[in-house]
Amino acid sequence: MEFGIKIATPEKQRGACAIIGIFESRKLTDSAKVLDKITHGYIKNILASGDMEGKANTTLLLHNVPDTLFKRILLVGLGKEQEFKEKSFLSALSTALSALQKTAVTDAVLFLSDFPAAERTAAWKIHQIVITAIGSNYRFDQLKSKPDNNQSSLSKLILCIDDRDQLAACEEAMQQSMAIAQGMNLAKDLGNLAPNICTPAYLAKQAKDLAKSHKLKATVLEEKDMEKLGMGSLLSVAQGSEQPAKLIVLEYHGAAKKDHPVVLVGKGVTFDTGGISLKPAAEMDEMKFDMSGAGSVLGTLLAVAEMKLPINVVGIIPATENMPSGKATKPGDVVTSLSGQTIEILNTDAEGRLILCDALTYAERYNPKAVIDIATLTGACVIALGNFTTGLMSNDGKLAQELLAAGELAADRAWQLPLWDEYQDLLKSNFADIANIGGRAAGTITAACFLSRFTKKYRWAHLDIAGTAWKSGKDKGSTGRPVPLLTQYLIAQAKASS
Ligand code: BES
Ligand code: MN
Ligand code: ZN
Repeated sequence: MEFGIKIATPEKQRGACAIIGIFESRKLTDSAKVLDKITHGYIKNILASGDMEGKANTTLLLHNVPDTLFKRILLVGLGKEQEFKEKSFLSALSTALSALQKTAVTDAVLFLSDFPAAERTAAWKIHQIVITAIGSNYRFDQLKSKPDNNQSSLSKLILCIDDRDQLAACEEAMQQSMAIAQGMNLAKDLGNLAPNICTPAYLAKQAKDLAKSHKLKATVLEEKDMEKLGMGSLLSVAQGSEQPAKLIVLEYHGAAKKDHPVVLVGKGVTFDTGGISLKPAAEMDEMKFDMSGAGSVLGTLLAVAEMKLPINVVGIIPATENMPSGKATKPGDVVTSLSGQTIEILNTDAEGRLILCDALTYAERYNPKAVIDIATLTGACVIALGNFTTGLMSNDGKLAQELLAAGELAADRAWQLPLWDEYQDLLKSNFADIANIGGRAAGTITAACFLSRFTKKYRWAHLDIAGTAWKSGKDKGSTGRPVPLLTQYLIAQAKASS
């Protein structure tokens, strides 16, 4: 999809469709006023007819409006002007874009000043518009014998701003957001792929392809390499599966060699049956999304490489299936992790932490500035925060604040949960150094407490994306989150270090 930025008002623009905002009740935005004037009151007349009140999430498509250079005008209801906030901005955008999808329009013009997102810059708006537009064009039909061809897609969007001083920042935001959207699309594709296709070996191949196309360094450790290293915890999850596990490492060097990298560790369980602690059948297909952390790491590295950020980033992906079989780990088994700590596996469905802990210990060798793990780790997180908010836990207050701020700015928000020592006692085991579950209470926190035993040597944060990585129901599919949060954080890091 193509984007362009212009300094322009509607009277001189031409195109297939202008997207124009209308507030409730029938209040014209600046560009609507301009169009109304050059059309001798045409817009006001339409509004007076009662067909469009300006209510939020409504649209009205006008054809052949006389005296304009646009073939069509799409009026978009913005709701009450006093109540117009960030959420209204984003939902007005998606409403406009999905209305356009139902037409034959392939290129459109939008006037930024119509969408007044208070306290946000024009660059921020451009960023969100580009991501929403590319997101609304996203289709996953590669596994259908014929693509669903009943929807046309927008291929070009011109964004008009009125302030020349903002132009450079807007151009930069446009480039960056296109890279982020590309990263989100990769994460979505990997999540949406069927689990018989997106296996650990498939993820490894994707990482290698990404390394080739974007000059990254990819290394894939096989099970025998992991055995030599002593990754007994990761391997205990893999042992029930016919698919060999992989530990995938991707390195992006955008800064000097001696610059310490940010390490991203993504849970890559390509299918989670629960193992011997088998999950119930209902909705088990959704456990193909249990590699969404891995997908977000690959997507973020793609975006970072596209943006050529002047930082170093390492992605580490422990990839495996979690299957029941005669060889599978049993509840009660005790394994030794790469860190040397022994783990009593009381529930084989708490497998994410078992693969992450070895990957987190492995991360030490990169001398990281910070380590962030991203995982669809606990059903409890969905209960606590629902599907809008990622759970954040950290051993470093500043890192937590930076990630919260990045999520806020990127409209990909997280919320912090406590990691106080009191919770650590819940992981006591009678037979090993630590148990892999802590009981029903505070399931998201005890999972993070488990990980914290392996992250003492560096600044670390954990993102539980169990509620945010995919949607269920009729819109079932990967969201590409938290690629926006992660890239925003890395952009801020790059700015701070330059
Ligand atoms: N992948 C799941 C977490 C999950 C469940 C994410 C449902 C999204 C929706 C994870 O491996 C898991 O099974 N966690 C268990 C942990 C429990 C056994 C302590 C859970 O949340 O039930
Ligand atoms: Mn599980
Ligand atoms: Zn899982």
